[in-house]
Parts: sequence; C-alpha cells; structure tokens
Amino acid sequence: MSEFEVKNIDLKPGNKLKIKGKIAGDAKRFQIDLGKGVNDLALHFNPRFHDDRDGKVIVCNSNCGGSWGSEKRDSNFPFEKGHEVKLNVKILQEGFEVELPNGHTVKFSKRFDDKITYMRVGGDFKVTSFKVE
Ligand code: GAL
Repeated sequence: MSEFEVKNIDLKPGNKLKIKGKIAGDAKRFQIDLGKGVNDLALHFNPRFHDDRDGKVIVCNSNCGGSWGSEKRDSNFPFEKGHEVKLNVKILQEGFEVELPNGHTVKFSKRFDDKITYMRVGGDFKVTSFKVE
C-alpha cells in the first residue's frame, strides 16, 4: 500500500492530470481520489482486481462527509498486476473523464459543485510521475 497525496492544489475545469505509475505485483486495488479532502470526494476512481460481486471492475463513487454515494461500475478493465500504466484524468465543468490505458474513457458526473483542492493516489499503485496540464 502506498499513498501519494497533494493538498492545497487548485484544479479547474480544463485541467488534465497525467499520472504514471506501477501497479503492485500482488495488487488488490488502487484508487485516484479528487475532492476537498479524504472525506469529501467528488471522484473516487477505484480499480479492483478481486471484487466479491464483479471480479475485475472499476468502481467510481463520491464521498460526502464520510458517506459513500451510489457506485457506478465499469467492467472495462485494462489493468494488469505488475504493469506500468498511464492514466489521464480530465476535469470538466460537469464532471470527470478518466482515460484508461486502452483508450476507453470512464465518465463520472459531478454530484456537488465543490472546488477540487485535494488529490490522492492510493492503494497498490506507486506513482512514478505526475503532471497537471
Ligand atoms: C467501499 C470501500 C471503499 C470505497 C467504496 C466505493 O466498499 O470500502 O474503499 O471503494 O466502497 O463505493
């Protein structure tokens, strides 16, 4: 488990986050979180290798004051344990678009109109490079 955390950042519609990193060889899950803090997430993007219900799946959700919203699941799963990957997250007015390594895009709408001032990449993923454009 590792954690890459950025605080006091000001992310706006039009920004694109470019994240490169390595998925652990024994990975169970990792996540990209964007919001105002650990318990206020506009986007929780969470690839899982062994979900009880769906096996390999990407779970997206929001978190408001510590309570999870309703999950949006995507069975497109272009991740492999032990591999290096690039993920781009586009911040839009109305939500987020995560570009997966296979070109597929996962979209998630904003559920509340908060500023994005916090990001975290956590779980079984080591960030090797990070850039905001
Ligand atoms: C929970 C899990 C959290 C988060 C959430 C997303 O079951 O414990 O880490 O992934 O699902 O809905």
